[in-house]
Amino acid sequence: MRFTVAIDGPAAAGKGTISKQVASHFGFAHLDTGLIYRATGARVLAGENAVPAAQGLRAEDLQRDDLRTPDVAQAASKVATIPEVRNALVQFQKDFAARDGGAVLDGRDIGTVICPDADVKLFVTASDAVRVERRFLELSEKGIDVTREAVQADLKARDTRDSERQTAPLKPAADAILIDTSDMGIEEAVAVAINVVQSKWRN
Ligand code: C5P
Repeated sequence: MRFTVAIDGPAAAGKGTISKQVASHFGFAHLDTGLIYRATGARVLAGENAVPAAQGLRAEDLQRDDLRTPDVAQAASKVATIPEVRNALVQFQKDFAARDGGAVLDGRDIGTVICPDADVKLFVTASDAVRVERRFLELSEKGIDVTREAVQADLKARDTRDSERQTAPLKPAADAILIDTSDMGIEEAVAVAINVVQSKWRN
């Protein structure tokens, strides 16, 4: 059985939590595709060139515990503008999406480029102010020392770079369902997403 759920949206809109919970609710596998760009970015920060870093990515690179820092996020969004980097990472994501038993992938270009035929496409957004507050709390809870201003600057720089790049820019697929989580708690946002997936599942 193949069933693919594509979840895209800007950073800190809630798509990570929604994706994990949708996958666990339906028993599907989950791939946070941002992690593969972060792992590539981390290798670049350690001195490698971006294209060989992406081509040589190994499973253990995704397990590093420093991938959630703002520095790695910026490096990820820079390597993500390079078409050869994206090409090197496409097949792994497509294979994951086609696995038996169902898959949820979240990122920026899943509904548009990686899985244009996904069974369900969601585009998750939230206002800038809400996203800044959520990411600030998330990083602070992890003990990462940041200010709201720095978080705002990181999100704005990445939003601009991700939306304006030539290859696979951040944008909703024409057939994506938009979920604006600005005024929702996380349980409500997850419930909305589960309802949408349920309505397409085994119909
Ligand atoms: O989702 P996350 O914030 O972890 O992603 C980090 C960066 O990786 C994004 O800012 C974006 O530049 C890049 N990315 C991408 N395509 C994806 C997932 C992430 O370009 N499918």
